[in-house]
Amino acid sequence: MQGYTKVQVVWLLLLMSSSSSWHSVHGGESDDVQCLKDLKQSLVDPKGTLESWVFTKHNIDGYICEFTGVECWHPDESRVLGLSLGNQGLEGPFPRGVELCGSMTTLDLSGNKLAGPLPERISDQLAYITYLDLSNNSFSGEIPAGIAKMTYLNTLALQHNQFDGRIPALGNLSRLVSFSVAENSLSGPVPDSLQRFPLANFTGNPRLCGPPIGKKCKKRFRLRIHVRPIRIHLRLRRINDASCIGAAAGFVVGFVVAFYFPHRFLFCRRLRPYIFHVCE
Ligand SMILES: *[C@@H]1O[C@H](CO)[C@@H](O)[C@H](O)[C@H]1NC(C)=O
Ligand SMILES: *[C@@H]1O[C@H](CO)[C@@H](O)[C@H](O)[C@H]1NC(C)=O
Ligand SMILES: *[C@@H]1O[C@H](CO)[C@@H](O)[C@H](O)[C@H]1NC(C)=O
Repeated sequence: MQGYTKVQVVWLLLLMSSSSSWHSVHGGESDDVQCLKDLKQSLVDPKGTLESWVFTKHNIDGYICEFTGVECWHPDESRVLGLSLGNQGLEGPFPRGVELCGSMTTLDLSGNKLAGPLPERISDQLAYITYLDLSNNSFSGEIPAGIAKMTYLNTLALQHNQFDGRIPALGNLSRLVSFSVAENSLSGPVPDSLQRFPLANFTGNPRLCGPPIGKKCKKRFRLRIHVRPIRIHLRLRRINDASCIGAAAGFVVGFVVAFYFPHRFLFCRRLRPYIFHVCE
């Protein structure tokens, strides 16, 4: 050790540790790190909440666990347990990359300015999620029916968004204990499987109906009175009136002309003697 200074020794140790951790993750980065990179990239972050997400210490296992809003299964392991990014002023679509956080059980994106539809495949992307809070954003479109396959869900908070269409049947979600879709633009009946939740968690959707909402569901089809044939009939009668007058006038003119100028109209000579001359 004679030829080495203290600084050189520290560098040597750092190099060794980085090369050993290099082997513990494939391709140099774990999927969970890529998950956070994609998520950060897909969102606009005016408040700079995600500025602490700096991906340069990739040689230290678990370095992402110190990022704002990231909770890991173990502090020395880059494996995301949950993301708490509520009320951070985040903008953009439903974030990309979440399917790479394969061990994530909670996702809180509430109180941001996220907009647009939820991914159709959300149930494949968040297969083990137990807690999903997307409330108080501007998400729109239909609530994906695939949510029914997220069988570990115990909390689903979708209130205060712009979801429309019908609420999908979520009968398979036997662990669901907290559910809200209040303050959206949903319509139609509340599925049987969700009628056990309190009225307050459905309010603010004027076109929802059936229990637990007081309003009765209307029948979907109504009879319409057809006015059109009557109008066509009237117009036809008017045409008839006009043509009657025309035909009568034509008959009178024809009669008078034939009466005074019979030679112009009678071409058969044998009939000429029978012409009745009125004024000769
Ligand atoms: C929604 O979030 C904003 C902050 O982003 C907050 O000011 C507001 O009170 C929240 N509204 C509801 C209904 O939670
Ligand atoms: C409910 O679960 C069963 C079996 O797990 C599955 O076949 C069915 O498609 C699920 N229903 C919905 C609406 O996802
Ligand atoms: C109703 O919604 C609120 C959020 O608005 C939630 O905290 C509560 O757990 C929900 N209740 C049930 C029974 O789902």
